[in-house]
Amino acid sequence: MVSSAQAREKYDQLVDRYEEIFFYVGDTGRRLIEFAAPPPGSRVLDVGAGRGAVTRAALALGCSVTAIDASPKMIERLVEDHPEVTGVAMDAAHLDFTAGSFDLATAGFVVQILDEPAVVLAEVHRVLAPGGTVALSLETQSVGRLGWFQELTLEFFAPATSEPVSPPPADTEASPGPMTHDRLDALLAETGFLDIERAPVEMPVPIADPPALWDWLMPRGLAEIQETLPADRRAEFRTRFLQGAQTMHDDGGITLDFAATLHRARRP
Ligand SMILES: C[S@@+](CC[C@H](N)C(=O)[O-])C[C@H]1O[C@@H](n2cnc3c(N)ncnc32)[C@H](O)[C@@H]1O
Repeated sequence: MVSSAQAREKYDQLVDRYEEIFFYVGDTGRRLIEFAAPPPGSRVLDVGAGRGAVTRAALALGCSVTAIDASPKMIERLVEDHPEVTGVAMDAAHLDFTAGSFDLATAGFVVQILDEPAVVLAEVHRVLAPGGTVALSLETQSVGRLGWFQELTLEFFAPATSEPVSPPPADTEASPGPMTHDRLDALLAETGFLDIERAPVEMPVPIADPPALWDWLMPRGLAEIQETLPADRRAEFRTRFLQGAQTMHDDGGITLDFAATLHRARRP
């Protein structure tokens, strides 16, 4: 979870390669808008809009879109790409819009990183018109058959320490733990939203063989992390990676199973 200031710094840095690294956001953005089904001309607020995965889909349906993001660079680029959008750098916890300004509020892959999701949902509720819709996407966390890769990266890149890894903090009100689909629906209900519904999105990515998996992961962060290793460890990492991927390949094929859930609700 990140504060608005941390989001600004992190996402400003990711602006050039954001949708290349997080390749699934485009498809999910389209499906989120299909799920929300705004009529043409709807006033849409896209919260944490990033490079515009959700915004683009809303524009394609003839909506009038206002996009906000904590990262000024994301907003700058989004407006360069889509000059018809009103883009503003803004913290989602303090939406600078009058009550009832929008028919639909969207947030694609945002709620899970907010440090104050309840505050943001209350703001979204305030700026929606009565009868308005909120539509959110949330990644479904599952390492699945890539567990070997997670273990390998931990072995090579986790800071050397003799301390055991601490368990996550207890799930208390002061420290509510990571966002889950149930928690999100509960928060929507507590905020006063009705007719809460979900829809799953599955995006399996089949990969031909171990070298193709390596090539696929390189522009998505693998290049940067493996460059932090000395040359001999880097070679060892690549060998072990290809061995792990070969086992996965022999055991039913290499498929990356990305999944998300869409959440939709209505403001009374
Ligand atoms: C994972 S990206 C999702 C971007 C886009 N919605 C998509 O589906 O591709 C999360 C975005 O939320 C923005 N963000 C994070 N915290 C925010 C906050 N408090 N207020 C506004 N935007 C925030 C980040 O800057 C980032 O662009």
